[in-house]
Amino acid sequence: MYLTKEQERMLAGEKGEVVERMFRLLVRLGEVYGADRMIPVASAQVAGVSYKSIGDPGLEFLEDIAAQGARVGVPTTLNPPGMDLVDWKELGFPEDFAQKQLRIMEAFRKMGVLMTATCTPYLVGNLPRFGEHLAWSESSAVSFANSVIGARTNREGGPSALAAAICGLTPNYGLHLDENRKPHYLIEVKAELRSTSDFGALGYYVGKIVKDKVPYFRGIKEADVDQLKALGAAMAASGAVALYHVEGITPEAKLMDVSSLERIGVGEQELREAHEKLNTGVDPDIVILGCPHASLKEIATLAAKLDGKRLKKPLWICTSRMTKEAATRMGLTAAIEGAGGRVVADTCTVVSPIERMGYRTIGVDSGKAANYLPGFCKQQVVFRSLDELLEELVV
Ligand code: F3S
Repeated sequence: MYLTKEQERMLAGEKGEVVERMFRLLVRLGEVYGADRMIPVASAQVAGVSYKSIGDPGLEFLEDIAAQGARVGVPTTLNPPGMDLVDWKELGFPEDFAQKQLRIMEAFRKMGVLMTATCTPYLVGNLPRFGEHLAWSESSAVSFANSVIGARTNREGGPSALAAAICGLTPNYGLHLDENRKPHYLIEVKAELRSTSDFGALGYYVGKIVKDKVPYFRGIKEADVDQLKALGAAMAASGAVALYHVEGITPEAKLMDVSSLERIGVGEQELREAHEKLNTGVDPDIVILGCPHASLKEIATLAAKLDGKRLKKPLWICTSRMTKEAATRMGLTAAIEGAGGRVVADTCTVVSPIERMGYRTIGVDSGKAANYLPGFCKQQVVFRSLDELLEELVV
């Protein structure tokens, strides 16, 4: 791989031990994937933030490099930690977990990371431009950046995204290259997509089939940002889809030749099957929305639906701290809490220690959450549309 003189100096340790260690990791990655050179990244997004995911070894690693002076060189945002960083006590997060989580956050703060704590950085200030190169690691955000925006990032691991953040560089391979952005399958959607959960079910179904390849959707007549984030998140979870195209909707779709692609049809029956597979439980103990983190619009929709109602079971909607601030200013948090729900900031169900908090069955409208909760959190799942979930919850 070609390295500039300055990059060779990084590798020789002239910019300090941490930079050398991090850059070595990127060079090794580039060699494994046959990259020709390093390219600058406009931003990084680091996953592996929850104490539940990284444990003591991750915590010690982060504290160690922060103490050695590691600092990010490009705007870098953070994925959700394992708890609401303000209301964790009141929400019942365990004290021992919280103390470790706060140390992780402090290590990231010392490194100069922007403390967004969300999987939707593009909604709160880390919005890439078309064609920009990035090093992002949250799979749903990677999918959104590549597909909906047309920026370019591989699906980084937590360490490689952090290394890219510190060095400001990433190896030039994979989805940074034009040839790897071409679709492999033509997905003909014949089913009607009535709700965000239908987009999640479609994503789950397609991700299982195409795995890490690039699907091109035809037949999706309309999709807003929230539906596209639900579709991409589910595909990234059931498969490892990091880029998809939607005819007439996503920016690179019109550049693609789909005439010779293998076709896969998704009708009402396939959509129903996906819904059934994601349903593993009955009668949820709690309903948790906001996977990926809810937008202000989704919070406003929920608040309107709960107006004048009373909930008979707990309901959380997870979002970023910044979105919650705006929701509070608009009176939406009060409306949701007035009905008995909670707007939970920073964290999400999957990366929180929810199984230690007494819950066994969770109601969700997210294909990604429904896919992960049984394995990651030992939960049974009731997967329904928002309206169906509320029908059961509202007194
Ligand atoms: Fe985000 Fe957690 Fe879902 S990180 S995409 S809310 S599993």
